[in-house]
Amino acid sequence: MKRIAVLASGNGTNLQAIIDAVESKKICGAEVVLVLSDKKDAYALTRAKKHGIKNKFFDPQLYASRQEYDRALVAYLQEHKIDLVVLAGYMRLVSPEFVEAYKNRIMNIHPALLPAFPGTKGIAAALDYGVKVTGCTVHFVDEGMDTGPIILQEAVTVRDDDTVESLRERIQKIEHRLYPKAIDLWVRGKITIQGRRCFIDE
Ligand code: GAR
Repeated sequence: MKRIAVLASGNGTNLQAIIDAVESKKICGAEVVLVLSDKKDAYALTRAKKHGIKNKFFDPQLYASRQEYDRALVAYLQEHKIDLVVLAGYMRLVSPEFVEAYKNRIMNIHPALLPAFPGTKGIAAALDYGVKVTGCTVHFVDEGMDTGPIILQEAVTVRDDDTVESLRERIQKIEHRLYPKAIDLWVRGKITIQGRRCFIDE
């Protein structure tokens, strides 16, 4: 059984989709054993509680730097024998040490077609730029911001009357299907990484 930790800063709808996929066996051979947040009142923590999953607010203010924070985080993940770290709306950049400790075992979901519109405002940036197609990306995390090898991507058409909210709603609907799928592929050992490219052997 692979042990998954989810890191989230907010609402946690992706976390919910992952929990649901584990419970309905769409993700097989893995369990979400830990949910961590850098935000005290992240609803993601409440979702974890509701499902009896161990959860913890990791307070950034207790650490002098990002490195120290991540060092404590990694130690905690290792204590809990975590195999895969899933960032789901986790709005902090992870340190190179964290990446090294979980090399190719940290995933992230981003609400745009990377490498376009990285960062924390991917949906608004795409809308402001005027692209006709955007989407979402699941990728492994490397030292850069949203730069790691891409696992899955799916496009979403932008409508003339879209607002950030309406576009987010359609993108997240896809995210909730794509993220569990990528996790399931990883758990079943179906993803091979060569350089920047991920190959899926389904
Ligand atoms: C998701 O849409 C995710 O793509 C985005 O935050 C949202 C979190 O929603 N992540 C980023 O923008 C990362 N740069 P959720 O808390 O409901 O899962």
